[in-house]
Amino acid sequence: MTTPTYSTVAVLGAGTMGAGIAQVCAQAGSRVLLQDLTDDFVHKGLGRIRDFLQKGVDKGKTTAEQRDAVLARIAVTTDRAAACRGADLVVEAVPEKLELKNGLFREVAAVTSPDCVLASNTSSLSLAKVFSGVPGQERCIGMHFFNPVPLMALLELVRTEHTSTATIDAVTAYSKQLGKEPILVKDSPGFASSRLGVCLGLEAIRMFESGVASAEDIDKAMALGYGHPMGPLKLTDLVGLDVRLAIADYLRKELDHPGFEAPALMRQMVKDGKLGKKTGQGFYRW
Ligand code: CAA
Repeated sequence: MTTPTYSTVAVLGAGTMGAGIAQVCAQAGSRVLLQDLTDDFVHKGLGRIRDFLQKGVDKGKTTAEQRDAVLARIAVTTDRAAACRGADLVVEAVPEKLELKNGLFREVAAVTSPDCVLASNTSSLSLAKVFSGVPGQERCIGMHFFNPVPLMALLELVRTEHTSTATIDAVTAYSKQLGKEPILVKDSPGFASSRLGVCLGLEAIRMFESGVASAEDIDKAMALGYGHPMGPLKLTDLVGLDVRLAIADYLRKELDHPGFEAPALMRQMVKDGKLGKKTGQGFYRW
């Protein structure tokens, strides 16, 4: 294993994305501090990592020694300042709320060294706003991972007008150490991935809503006809209808494009708690 670009990484938020990010950073050899608000959240996050690694062992993809070595590099905490102090890279994976992310980075900047790289895993929000008022904007960047993080090859790097070339180069090198293929995108609503992905998902929901075909058949159209690994409705279930609705509303406003208007069915399903895989019911029963 080569020496990782960042020896100590703080991952803030231990949900599906945060846990996955912590796992791949530890797999690359970094020491990882995984932080969330409660003991329950951090232990659930660690449990997800443990389960994924164990499945890898059961499948013969990972050895028991590798599993243990990765787990030994991850520590959990509920103390955000303690997690960030001494980190070379901080990756934020908290809920998609602008004020929350901006407040977090202002707080984190006060306890990290000036050359610690600050990265947001936001899937669509303006990074200029996420990092607004944060000192040292040249070390701020978007690192947008994909679910399930340990399996998805893409890492979308998002540069603001202030991100330095040195930051981009170092984060690009680290992305490769994480086993990811980086793409570089300008700070613009929905970047490259969410703008296209959400557009397809919303149209699939409109088609289902108006009875064009069943959910299974709409998904098969894209899976078998276009070679997508998973159809757009199943993928919406996997990502979460609430997550995608928030992105759609944001893009509708920012891009002023009617194609991003969320279908009434989607709003109703979110109101009813049919959020997809995480609640057991979405376009499919899980
Ligand atoms: N440890 C190690 N390897 C594992 C593993 C584990 N725990 N679990 C699975 N794998 C390996 C498998 O062995 C298999 O490897 P091979 O190809 O070498 O055989 C590979 O990973 C694929 O796993 P499976 O065969 O079990 O499953 P699959 O073929 O159905 O693939 C998937 C699963 C990769 C998730 C695939 O369904 C897929 O690509 N789905 C689409 C996911 C997607 O689009 N995600 C993006 C969502 S949008 C987003 O995330 C953005 C956002 O901001 C919210």
